[in-house]
Amino acid sequence: MWYFVSPEVVFGEGALDALDELEGQRALIVTDGTLVELGLVDKVKAHLDKASIEVHVFDRVEPDPSVQTVRQGVEVAQEYEPDWIIGLGGGSPMDAAKAIWVLYERPDLEPAEINPFIRLGLRRKARLITIPTTSGTGAEVTWAIVLTDTEEQRKMGLGNRENVADIAIVDPGLAAGMPPQLTADTGLDALTHAVEGYTCAWRSDMTDGLCAGAARLVFEYLPRAVADAHSAGSGQGSDKRARERMHNAATCAGLGFGNAMASMAHAMGHVLGAVFHVPHGRTVSIFLPYTIEFAAREAPARFAELAGLLGCSQAEGERGARALAEHIRDLCQKVGNPTSVAGVGIEREVYEAQLDKLVDDAFNDTQMITAARAPSYDELRQLFLYAYEGRPVDF
Ligand SMILES: NC(=O)c1ccc[n+]([C@@H]2O[C@H](COP(=O)([O-])OP(=O)(O)OC[C@H]3O[C@@H](n4cnc5c(N)ncnc54)[C@H](O)[C@@H]3O)[C@@H](O)[C@H]2O)c1
Ligand SMILES: [Zn+2]
Repeated sequence: MWYFVSPEVVFGEGALDALDELEGQRALIVTDGTLVELGLVDKVKAHLDKASIEVHVFDRVEPDPSVQTVRQGVEVAQEYEPDWIIGLGGGSPMDAAKAIWVLYERPDLEPAEINPFIRLGLRRKARLITIPTTSGTGAEVTWAIVLTDTEEQRKMGLGNRENVADIAIVDPGLAAGMPPQLTADTGLDALTHAVEGYTCAWRSDMTDGLCAGAARLVFEYLPRAVADAHSAGSGQGSDKRARERMHNAATCAGLGFGNAMASMAHAMGHVLGAVFHVPHGRTVSIFLPYTIEFAAREAPARFAELAGLLGCSQAEGERGARALAEHIRDLCQKVGNPTSVAGVGIEREVYEAQLDKLVDDAFNDTQMITAARAPSYDELRQLFLYAYEGRPVDF
């Protein structure tokens, strides 16, 4: 027995209009300072005004939100007593909003206690709306919450099926002005979700189609979206179709992997991000091809099948899986992203000094459970070294 959870998803140009009809008294918007400056918070507020809903903005969410920030947000919620919480932004504000909502409803819990095995009993005080402004994490539709423990330099994978949003508003207009690097990083995150969701041990018939469809969209539209971001300078570009399809791809991938699981590339990416502060999408997409090559020798079938569906190789077994890894590296290069950890600009000595921690934390990350081929501790260490150097995995 398994579950498929999803919010009601309102999508396409003008999706924000769904807020005009919202019923309620007070909304707490959880977001970050950049999105206030860019005017995206005002856009959302204008719709809530039409619904006569009062608004308070908590805009202190940093990239890779910390437990401390979530605690501040909970205090604000307890004072303001909203009946709607709105996570507006990339994965960081949306994850923070989920955690703030859970702890506002359940002040008896610690953030680290939000896990899939307890009954939360949410929706007594408020409900949750998620509105993505990046096309990447899929956090608008997943129940996962990723918080950072800044003292331990560790990402914590939390969440419970109950804390999936009530409504996700997937309006491409909000992400259409993303600059090139953010477009590339977040788009590659969506690709990593799609590939890991399709190939991990917890994949299912309910999630395969969403993951394969999302991967196809990313290969087709991410290069166009990044090119559009380059040509737009600081404004919005003209390739609305590419932006819209990427926005949809991220949500589809979120529904796919969120109801299956991510895998090794996420386990490895999480620790690199937590220690070296590299954006999430960049870290996971660097590791993805190495983890595929590692799986290729013992468990290539799903990867080869996906390579076939994407039209990059009709070869079966290891050859097909390796072709998929190369196809992903090509895409990273096409959109100007690195394909090795060295390419991120981390010095070798600094990396090696942290290697024990990287391997330990990745080994214990929840996303490691679903690996198509489970690595030993030493193999994982090797993988981190190969990925540093950009050497295709041959063991
Ligand atoms: N819950 C999940 O299922 C899930 C899945 C994947 C990743 N995550 C988490 O999500 C976080 C990463 O989220 P992200 O990649 O969306 O980035 P982010 O939310 O951290 O935002 C990165 C930067 O982009 C800016 N930004 C956002 N939208 C913009 C726009 N439209 N125009 C210009 N700038 C904009 C933000 O202000 C911020 O400075 C990580 O913490 C990661 O662990 C969660
Ligand atoms: Zn991700």
